[in-house]
Amino acid sequence: MILLGYSFETKKQMEVDAFFKGLETEIHWLNSLNQIQDLMLDKDIGVIFITSSNFEDKEGIYEVSRHLSQSFLNLAVVLIADENSLDIRKAMRTGVFDVLTGKLNEYQVKETLKEAEKHITFQTQTLSKSEGKNTVEKKARIITVCSTKGGVGKTTFTVNFAAAFAKQFKKVAVIDLDLQFGDISMFFNCNPKKTIYEWVKEGRNDPKAYMHSYNDYLDIMPAPIRPEFSEAILDEHISHLIERLEPMYDLVLIDTAPYMEDKILTALEKSDDIFLITFLDLPTLKNSKIFIETLNSLSLDTKVKVIINRDSNKKGINSSIAEGVLGLPIFLKIPDVEKVVAVSVNEGTPYVYSSPRARISKLIYSLALDIAGRPKSQQKKSFFSKKGSVVGR
Ligand SMILES: Nc1ncnc2c1ncn2[C@@H]1O[C@H](COP(=O)(O)OP(=O)(O)OP(=O)(O)O)[C@@H](O)[C@H]1O
Ligand SMILES: [Mg+2]
Repeated sequence: MILLGYSFETKKQMEVDAFFKGLETEIHWLNSLNQIQDLMLDKDIGVIFITSSNFEDKEGIYEVSRHLSQSFLNLAVVLIADENSLDIRKAMRTGVFDVLTGKLNEYQVKETLKEAEKHITFQTQTLSKSEGKNTVEKKARIITVCSTKGGVGKTTFTVNFAAAFAKQFKKVAVIDLDLQFGDISMFFNCNPKKTIYEWVKEGRNDPKAYMHSYNDYLDIMPAPIRPEFSEAILDEHISHLIERLEPMYDLVLIDTAPYMEDKILTALEKSDDIFLITFLDLPTLKNSKIFIETLNSLSLDTKVKVIINRDSNKKGINSSIAEGVLGLPIFLKIPDVEKVVAVSVNEGTPYVYSSPRARISKLIYSLALDIAGRPKSQQKKSFFSKKGSVVGR
């Protein structure tokens, strides 16, 4: 059993430390949720105490609680709330084990731990009977974003989808597979020292050492600095890179160049989903159709999810015409919002961060929530049936 504390002030940490003085309870004080996975890996049971007082955004505490309760079945989440600062019913609905109010006292803390231990033991025993003690999902979902035409918004979508995923405390690796002219780093306003080229040239060791860490949850494998370096990168390197990243992340998201080549095909073969970005105009739809037919001949078409970008009422082609041309349902329609997107691109900050309340940000966030919220096996079955929740028809 391990006791974790998140967002505690030093004074409160010392109070709780004192309750366990001389006892063997392992206590860790955390400032980042990133550490939890490592700390929990070899533990049967954990209890995390989270104080509400340091959360500026009140919704944040519910998000953190939901994320932890859903991700770690062997971790009991206990919120410590200042009087009236939390909606207790709302908190309980996120899956927390308990909410403590008022001043912490030794009896209350120890009693909560005892009860949490009983609860988790029961929960994990029941679960392990049916599906083993598989508490931490280790395999990333792999999604490649592609198009047949340049400038349709692949990179804009990729950076925002990745950021929305990271906002939910899910670990994301973005690979810039537009190897000649990739601009993922620019969209994130970062200046990477190393790229996929150095990773290949220096012997393909730990890929993380070659990635740019944008924040605790989001890492980027940038495209080479110069277009000619892309020739050094071979199909098998792409395969190897994806395989190395897969166990380390919840999502591996791959941005591509607007044409088909073997390296991109390798990524498509390794992907769980292929997000095909297109416009509602006939030439782009026609090209997309040819692309889908090519994927069909490679038996990859079942992975395709069609995303219409820059949707507006002005184009004269509606969803059913587009679906007729493509022979596939439209999975998502992203509105044309030049102002929000242009500001975000020029600032180098994903719009889900710079304009979180904009409709486009909420749409991308809800797509990420939809994909992050369910285990990979369930998503595969229910992606299209859940379409209504994310498709902006
Ligand atoms: N939903 C949107 N609304 C308004 N503008 C958008 C939207 N999505 C993308 N854009 C704009 O479209 C332009 C092209 O986007 P982006 O670079 O993401 O396309 P791309 O498909 O990655 O291009 P390339 O194939 O050249 O890599 C950008 O300037 C961006 O600001
Ligand atoms: Mg691009």
